Amino acid sequence: MRSRKFGRTSWQVSEIGYGGWGIGKAWWGGADDAQSLRSLEKALEVGINFFDTAYVYGDGHSEILMGKVLKGKDVYIATKIPPKNHVWPGLPETPLKEAFPADWIRSCTERSLKKLGREIIDLTQFHCWTDAWLKDDDWKTAVERLKKEGKIKAFGVSINDHDPDSALELVQSGLVDSVQVIFNIFDQSPIERLFPLCQKHSVGVIARVPLDEGGLSGSLTKATRFDDADFRKNYFKGNRLNETVERVEKLKIFLGPEASTIPALALKFILGHEAVSVAIPGMRNPKNVVLNAGVSDSTPLKNETIMALRAHAWKRNFYGGGID
Ligand SMILES: NC(=O)c1ccc[n+]([C@@H]2O[C@H](COP(=O)([O-])OP(=O)(O)OC[C@H]3O[C@@H](n4cnc5c(N)ncnc54)[C@H](OP(=O)(O)O)[C@@H]3O)[C@@H](O)[C@H]2O)c1
Repeated sequence: MRSRKFGRTSWQVSEIGYGGWGIGKAWWGGADDAQSLRSLEKALEVGINFFDTAYVYGDGHSEILMGKVLKGKDVYIATKIPPKNHVWPGLPETPLKEAFPADWIRSCTERSLKKLGREIIDLTQFHCWTDAWLKDDDWKTAVERLKKEGKIKAFGVSINDHDPDSALELVQSGLVDSVQVIFNIFDQSPIERLFPLCQKHSVGVIARVPLDEGGLSGSLTKATRFDDADFRKNYFKGNRLNETVERVEKLKIFLGPEASTIPALALKFILGHEAVSVAIPGMRNPKNVVLNAGVSDSTPLKNETIMALRAHAWKRNFYGGGID
């Protein structure tokens, strides 16, 4: 497993990390805890040392599972503080005090410390953001205090879906250690402005949703059906699933010696950008952990392949309610 420096911190993180949304069960139509625990153990075994979770991934369930397996291990755990008003995305018209007031930042940090069973959180992230909140000083003081008290080591934000430009000012402000952003073959938008700024200001980049919620897993077909409890029933509703499968079909011309599967191609595309510190595929199955970790051990994509994949960007937002 190759590692990369995490922004301005001294951390060396595995370039494949662990996405912990699915194991929290919420929105993913259930997961088997025993299998999730085996996946986390397998992640340690294959050299993954960066784990991403959030309180809202099952009201602490994902944090608890990680806490169990990662206890005493020399790894980095990133969690997230939800907005107090439970409104996603972060909107400029929302006052900061409704989303991330100082007492909320502190109480959520303490709650996550308990769920994780740790003394200190390596990276705490706001679960959404808008640059309009930059002018407010309360959150800055709250974060600084938590750092001074030794409750958190680093601070970042998770950027609104498909809107990398909503955190450009924050990246330039020097106030964050990292940003978490959607970056995959379909959504390449961070390449334009966010990534160059992160490189300039040494801000770590966590590439989330690397497999487009399964769209780039290579396992969806036009006949795939999702359970009612799986949010992807909505994500891939209407003609979205057919469109996704047809887009993936076009990617198959890239399969060969450089990458033999669609998920390997998708992860290598992400790792091909040097602004990226870590890609965090969601993995509820130990088999996927082994496959994804293996991507880091094999030869990177050639630059010309990456450039050809740039033509496969696809602008859309499947998280929204309407049928696109
Ligand atoms: N707003 C935010 O901050 C936010 C939002 C979304 C996600 N995230 C973070 O980003 C992480 C990754 O995103 P995600 O989990 O939503 O989606 P994802 O990583 O794009 O896709 C996960 C899907 O891919 C499947 N998969 C993984 N590796 C595979 C492989 N080698 N072959 C075939 N299928 C494979 C998983 O299978 P299984 O179903 O078997 O596990 C799962 O269905 C999350 O877990 C979370 O940590 C953050």
